[in-house]
Amino acid sequence: MAVIDVKNFAKSFDGKPVHKNVSFQVKEGECLGLLGGSGVGKSVVLRSLIGLEKPDSGEIFIEGEEISNFSEHQLIPIRTKVAYVFQNGALFDSMSVFENLAYPLREHTKLNESEIKNRIHEQLTEFGLEDAEFKSPSQLSGGMQKRVGLARSIIIRPKVVLYDEPTAGLDPYNTVKIQEMILRMKDKGVTSVFVTHDMPSAFNVCDRMVLLLNGAVAAEGTVEELNKDPDGLLQRFVRGERA
Ligand SMILES: Nc1ncnc2c1ncn2[C@@H]1O[C@H](COP(=O)(O)OP(=O)(O)OP(=O)(O)O)[C@@H](O)[C@H]1O
Ligand SMILES: [Mg+2]
Repeated sequence: MAVIDVKNFAKSFDGKPVHKNVSFQVKEGECLGLLGGSGVGKSVVLRSLIGLEKPDSGEIFIEGEEISNFSEHQLIPIRTKVAYVFQNGALFDSMSVFENLAYPLREHTKLNESEIKNRIHEQLTEFGLEDAEFKSPSQLSGGMQKRVGLARSIIIRPKVVLYDEPTAGLDPYNTVKIQEMILRMKDKGVTSVFVTHDMPSAFNVCDRMVLLLNGAVAAEGTVEELNKDPDGLLQRFVRGERA
């Protein structure tokens, strides 16, 4: 059974169809790259996977549960299982890094204070962020804030992580650090969807990619298949050619 199964997803905004018929699956432990030009609807698909948007028609299965008509209450366990990494890190400026990471642990787990301390310290050390623990987000560079934001998204140990342009605007050093964080999550068996315009990162972390075009999946393949087929639609997209 696929961990994520999107079937015939359709959605319009203000009468304009953005998604006509989008279907794809993500298997357990796999990282799927979700590619496509600006405005094609990648973020809307990601948001729909945690119930922040509802499809007009079609179905979204998370581990076999159809969630598109779930209530906010029914979505609570889905949002514990599926983490969303927001583009800007979305840290609370008035709280230290420690408090930012403690927040989801206090909300979603039953860990006691000393377990929370240990978990945060372990997570920050694993990602090379231990010096940031008692700083406020405003004392960190944009790249560090994004890395801390990623650490916060995954601190409750989700089974699935959705990354929306996690490397956008980052320098090569922080980009590589983010790639390493994603690969580490993969090593732990996490299933993920990676939305990006950063092709080197996509090729480094994804197992398979799908290309959204004109409201549907226009092409898909494993990274190996893509590397073998330079004239395919996906490769042409990657090279910046108009589809
Ligand atoms: N809440 C909304 N209300 C109206 N239109 C919306 C809403 N959310 C998304 N859209 C529209 O849906 C389309 C897809 O948006 P989306 O943000 O998913 O694109 P994207 O593929 O993530 O683009 P980018 O690569 O630039 O981030 C856009 O035309 C956008 O304007
Ligand atoms: Mg987007």
